[in-house]
Amino acid sequence: MTGIDVAVVRSDTQGCDEVIHLNNAGSSLPPRAVVDTVVSYLEEEARVGGYELADRRSDDLDGVYRSVAGIVGATEDEIALLDSATRAWDMAFYSLRFEPGDRILTTTSEYAANFIAYLQVAERTGAHIDVVPDTPTGEIDVEALETMMDERVKLISINHVPTNGGVVNPAAAVGEIANRFGVLYLLDACQSVGQMPIDVDEIGCDMLSATSRKFLRGPRGVGFLYVRDTVIEDLTPPLLDLHSATWVATDRFEMRRDAKRFETWESSPALRLGLGAACDYATGLGLEAIWSRVASLGDILRTGLAMTPGVSVHDKGSVKGGIVTFSVAGTTARDVKAALAQHNINVSTSIAASTLIDMQQRGLDEIVRASVHYFNTEQELDAALAAVAGLT
Ligand SMILES: Cc1ncc(COP(=O)(O)O)c(C=O)c1O
Repeated sequence: MTGIDVAVVRSDTQGCDEVIHLNNAGSSLPPRAVVDTVVSYLEEEARVGGYELADRRSDDLDGVYRSVAGIVGATEDEIALLDSATRAWDMAFYSLRFEPGDRILTTTSEYAANFIAYLQVAERTGAHIDVVPDTPTGEIDVEALETMMDERVKLISINHVPTNGGVVNPAAAVGEIANRFGVLYLLDACQSVGQMPIDVDEIGCDMLSATSRKFLRGPRGVGFLYVRDTVIEDLTPPLLDLHSATWVATDRFEMRRDAKRFETWESSPALRLGLGAACDYATGLGLEAIWSRVASLGDILRTGLAMTPGVSVHDKGSVKGGIVTFSVAGTTARDVKAALAQHNINVSTSIAASTLIDMQQRGLDEIVRASVHYFNTEQELDAALAAVAGLT
């Protein structure tokens, strides 16, 4: 099917012997290279001291920025490493200064954490949140977005792939409009980075946030922010410390000029190195090859579920990726998840409050989310389909 040697990537992945992991949109199974990187660093830290090891390994730690930048087509100076995708996104969003009447344009499927931040800022500043409708096939309607543009639009802020379904939003078409109108564009790429090729120049976004633990297969507790070099100095982070800024005189500080102005001093070097190793692993396999296999496994699972009596598939979008959502008649999503766990199959559920507008528009409450990765096999999908069929 693709350029990925499934036997090799499975033998690199300890968890493949233990479980059928269809929760890669939650937190994927890391390859051995990632686990070894994190564990060996922690062990050495325990032997030689945290600050001392960070000094010794400073070249490797600098290299993480190169690895992450390579995953999104950025330069090292445009990358900030943070604790999570949400904190990364927050550092960008809360750097903007909104005035009464300023408009934020977003999607129907926006992630709750982002929308809560819009609401908070709208309440504080008098900015407006406008939700761009979807096309009949379910992605953000770029023509509608264009008609909604005016001089009061301060920010276009959308997700690339939502948390609750397979749709891939047309991020580059949105970028074309943002750039044409000279409006800042923030892309939540938490569910797309590691799943598909991403190039910030092709997309035309000014800021992009993502995590390590999902499709990149890195450790939990680390994420990153990309900020275009031409924009960095226009943004004042909501929080500063002695790493993001320097106390240059008793009455004055200066902020860093690179994206590290969005970081904090304290961090976990082990997790950062794990993220770097995950990026290198994905780059080694090739993002085109990863995307081709993920999309194709997603299609197989989606089609199989759609053919299973009593199962409704909920994915929208003319381009779909590895997140597959469904429900089973007569059973709750939680019970489906628990029943699949009995078969050693990991899935998760998506609740309405994670993507409230989209879920309300579609009359959905809680749905099952099965998310594939390239290391999953067709046999694993058959086993999952058989287990779901057994519930109806
Ligand atoms: C679309 C989307 N954005 C943001 C996030 C938040 O990521 P994190 O939990 O790393 O902060 C998620 C997490 O599921 C997500 O699905």
